[in-house]
Amino acid sequence: MTDSLVRAPETDRTHATPEQYAERYARSLSDNDAFWLEEARRLDWVTAPSKAGNWSYDPVDIRWYDDGVLNLCHNALDRHLDARGEKVALHFEPDDPESEARTLTYRELHREVVRIANALKAIGVKKGDRVTIYMPMIPEGTAAMLACARIGAIHSVVFGGFSPEALAGRIADCESRFVITADGGLRGGKPVPLKDNVDAALERPGAGVEAVLVVRHTGCEVNWTEGRDFWLADKANDADCPCEEMKAEDPLFILYTSGSTGKPKGVLHTTGGYGVWAALTFHYVFDVRPEDIFWCTADIGWITGHSYVAYGPLLNGASQVIFEGVPNYPDAGRFWDVVDKYGVSIFYTAPTAIRALMREGDGPVTSRDRSSLRLLGTVGEPINPEAWRWYHEVVGSGRCPIVDTWWQTETGGIMITTLPGAHDMKPGAAGKALFGVEPVLVDGEGKLLEGAAEGNLCMARSWPGQARTVYGDHQRFVDTYFSTFPGRYFSGDGCRRDEDGYHWITGRVDDVINVSGHRMGTAEVESALVLHPTVAEAAVVGYPHDIKGQGIYCFVTLVAGEEPDDALERELKAQVRSEIGPIATPDLIHFTPALPKTRSGKIMRRILRKIAENDYDSLGDTSTLADPGVVDALIAGRRNR
Ligand code: WT7
Repeated sequence: MTDSLVRAPETDRTHATPEQYAERYARSLSDNDAFWLEEARRLDWVTAPSKAGNWSYDPVDIRWYDDGVLNLCHNALDRHLDARGEKVALHFEPDDPESEARTLTYRELHREVVRIANALKAIGVKKGDRVTIYMPMIPEGTAAMLACARIGAIHSVVFGGFSPEALAGRIADCESRFVITADGGLRGGKPVPLKDNVDAALERPGAGVEAVLVVRHTGCEVNWTEGRDFWLADKANDADCPCEEMKAEDPLFILYTSGSTGKPKGVLHTTGGYGVWAALTFHYVFDVRPEDIFWCTADIGWITGHSYVAYGPLLNGASQVIFEGVPNYPDAGRFWDVVDKYGVSIFYTAPTAIRALMREGDGPVTSRDRSSLRLLGTVGEPINPEAWRWYHEVVGSGRCPIVDTWWQTETGGIMITTLPGAHDMKPGAAGKALFGVEPVLVDGEGKLLEGAAEGNLCMARSWPGQARTVYGDHQRFVDTYFSTFPGRYFSGDGCRRDEDGYHWITGRVDDVINVSGHRMGTAEVESALVLHPTVAEAAVVGYPHDIKGQGIYCFVTLVAGEEPDDALERELKAQVRSEIGPIATPDLIHFTPALPKTRSGKIMRRILRKIAENDYDSLGDTSTLADPGVVDALIAGRRNR
């Protein structure tokens, strides 16, 4: 197949020509240790590492820069103060464009971080303690993460859109005894009751904490538990707060992510390797120059917000925008208003946002200037070529290269992309491996596929930003990522590699779906549904959705004697929202008398996926079903999109 090429613009060859990329890439594999020791010099070390990689995939034991000592908060802030203390670190754009925007220089952000770090110490946080951060997208969110890094506490950021139930589970799992939150948040003009949610979460078993630090933000009323709750302003102070000396392999953060089975996993990243990886990927992929204004629209509750809001830009001394709001408030031109207001030159967002804005037409884009933009990026899910072209031609006026960056919570940073200037682009393809990354494709039996091929996307070798374990459950880490194809890291994604070596991600091959760029375990949604007393069984699959990429389709059987109706459907949707959060709200609920099962009782999801996709002609072999008649009943009851 010939894939349409979009040429790399000549003007953008700052960091890597095609030849430079090829040469550096070859060396990054052939002389791996030397390459990574050199790259480690991007950071300041208290003790420089003498060796880079020290890892094995069998048994699974991953270490990088083992004997190095450093602090990432020092690297993100302190070390910049002499040379660029007065440079803008953050432009904060609030949800309401009429509210006051705030700009923090590196010196001001440093001061804020020291104040929060002192507050953390004052409430009893010590090195190695887990601290849960449940915040809106305000400067204090990023500052709280860096404050943890400064004193050696392990942050666990929980997305502010998650429910109290989901928050409670994440507090209990890592035995976090401290929470940092805000009184409330604002998104699209609507209040988010963050402190109330924390209060509710802390009533759940196993989720009691010692102290809650509350940032005053919206000024909304909150309930108060004396002795447990503290205003940040009352605990913060400017006392000297030196950076804790951390070993490279000391944990930096835990971030929960969904898998195909069970509860969300606490993916653990460590200090040295993650720091080098976040710094390097930001530098190369976004081709950053001193005068750039970078804007990544992700929330700090996701890995994208960790690596490309909190760490990557600040480790590189870059200026960035952080945005509290949503793309369509007060109108569909908001992103471009913000681009113009701050002169954003590099813009990084998700395909789902692009598709939603594309639907509003070109007007809200072309009515804004956008001439500051020079590079665009996407992340989170495959981008359909139509949306890619709109992004390129309308948003970028055909001038800006696009980097379609494939990576995961577990990879810590970008793994596969084109490099701006170095590579021609193919709309819909992520591109090539970044330095030190060795993607391979294997078939279902684990056989290596050469050349142009389609298969399961694995990594043949470790890289510094790789997750080290699942917090508290190393066996689960081993089972999830290293047991399907022994000796390799398995991403869970399917992928086609074309004759030019470009990677086309075809989506998850496990029971994980991707809803608006967010990973959702179908098992989690099923567990939430069966908590309802009328539900006997539930099976959840994804289906193509114009805006979200994938929508959530739920097949539900009821206990004997119960009849489905609209009220029950609403109740079930509400149940999932309260168990997980609004992002998990089912799109379609399909009540059915029975699910298709094999004679041994296993649900045949393959058939459910086809029905959800409206694809009845290729249901495949249904002869192994215990009751083939179930399929006709399911087709007859198909819910319309
Ligand atoms: C899954 C990881 C990486 C930060 C956001 C999501 C999908 C991610 C792309 C892309 C095609 C992509 C994959 C991956 N994905 N980026 N550019 N093209 N698919 O992080 O929640 O850990 O999800 O997102 O399926 O496995 P995550």
